[in-house]
Amino acid sequence: MPYTVPKLDDYSPEALDRAIAGLRSALEQEVAGVKSEADHEALRIRWRARTNGILTQINDSWLKAAPKEAKRDVGQRVNELKTWVEERVESAKPGAASASVTDKLDITLPGIRRPLGAEHPVVKTTNEIIGIFAKMGYSVETGPEIETDYYNFESMNFPPNHPARDTQDTIFIAGQESKPQRDRLLLRTHTSPVQTRAMEKHRPPIRVVAPGKVHRSDTPDASHSPIFHQVEGLAVDTNITFSDLKGTLDHAMKELFGSDVKTRFFPSFFPFTEPSADVQISCIFCGGKGCRKCKHSGWIELLGCGMVDPAVFAAVTQERRKLNPSDDAYNPEKITGFAFGMGVERIAMIQHGISDIGHFYSGDMRFLEQFA
Ligand code: DAH
Repeated sequence: MPYTVPKLDDYSPEALDRAIAGLRSALEQEVAGVKSEADHEALRIRWRARTNGILTQINDSWLKAAPKEAKRDVGQRVNELKTWVEERVESAKPGAASASVTDKLDITLPGIRRPLGAEHPVVKTTNEIIGIFAKMGYSVETGPEIETDYYNFESMNFPPNHPARDTQDTIFIAGQESKPQRDRLLLRTHTSPVQTRAMEKHRPPIRVVAPGKVHRSDTPDASHSPIFHQVEGLAVDTNITFSDLKGTLDHAMKELFGSDVKTRFFPSFFPFTEPSADVQISCIFCGGKGCRKCKHSGWIELLGCGMVDPAVFAAVTQERRKLNPSDDAYNPEKITGFAFGMGVERIAMIQHGISDIGHFYSGDMRFLEQFA
């Protein structure tokens, strides 16, 4: 006997339970008989058709006919029942169950790969340089990127208005005119002011490297960028000599570029070192024979260095004496030091054969992925 919707004259919860259970088992029986798409369509029409489908009949003969007091309860039960019937009829479609499972999850598909982040080549080379000096007992110091005129210039022995300042292509912060010159802010042009900051904080012996971002008002081209990175180095102790400087940097260059590399020290000038030198390495592209990369000289200029100028120690002493008038930690009669500064991008470009500094800042994944 096909199922017909019974009239309800008892609307008690128990009577509703019985009526619903009857309907459910009737639907289950009919579902079991569905063998084809056509069977399923017949089932769908019988149960869900808007006009006179079983759900519509239930709405009419159970819900609409219910006495006022029972409406709320019956309404809730009928709604739940409707949802169940709709889902049951839908899932009775031949092949429906397996189709819906495969729609949700195909365990044969490869998973979603989330690429891991990696160090930027500038960070990588910075860390490599730091690591080389860390093995020689150096620790890391940092300083602010927005620096005062005093730390960037005066403490580094660039007097106000001295032409040596012109070499630094400085980006100044606007609106500083009302301050004394030494307190005026600028974007540091080099990491050298961290030397002063380190010496104000710590007594000798000092062995520090200071990595960081620096700024110059340069027009970008293949070898210039207004923002780039340097690693500064400073060693201060009793009896530090130029030989220590040469040995240290020769070792560092061999670590960075391979033990075949040679170094040579060329006389140069920096206000904060005396004597000063530019360090050149034998061309790693041609082995020193001469090629386009080394402009046929066999040498590549890589960094600046020198022995710390006594004027720098004097500036540090003056500041330290504001806290301790008898401070004599940086008496140049008792201690000496060397310093060096290198451009990180330049080193990374030589390491990897990169011809345009702009690649570091373009965010182009085709470039960056090569260093992941
Ligand atoms: N500060 C220099 C620059 O950016 C680089 C430099 C040269 C740093 C010699 C040093 C040094 O510590 O001794 O042009």
